[in-house]
Amino acid sequence: MKTDIEILESAKEASKKAYCPYSKFAVGACVLCENGNTYTGCNVENSSYGLSLCAERNAISSKIASGDDSDIVKIAIYSPQEKKCFPCGACRQWMKEFQVKGKDILIVLEGDNNEICTFSINELLPYSFDMNVI
Ligand code: THU
Repeated sequence: MKTDIEILESAKEASKKAYCPYSKFAVGACVLCENGNTYTGCNVENSSYGLSLCAERNAISSKIASGDDSDIVKIAIYSPQEKKCFPCGACRQWMKEFQVKGKDILIVLEGDNNEICTFSINELLPYSFDMNVI
């Protein structure tokens, strides 16, 4: 199982692939699953700004598209432009979608002094919308 430092490193590598000519704000994300598999993603912008895709949703999509049905344990996020690059509201809702009942998803960020900071998705998105159909 990869460590927090290792998944942050993978997120950092992914951020180098970001397509962000408009904001110049690169982001990389790495999803770690219970079975040890990891999936990375970067942000992909569009000249129609609102169509831009965040790194976290790209990484989660990659995990889903691979057919891996192992539960998500952690998601590391990295931006060279900002320490503690917190996920946007849309990405928090996406993470929540794949949080299995009774389990948590930990968000792993790099802090101001390069220390590792972790937050739970429940902490970042309390009282979230849930249709309770799954
Ligand atoms: N971005 C992400 O990739 N993840 C987030 O959680 C917040 C924002 C991207 C979207 C856009 O390409 C750039 O950062 C600036 O908003």
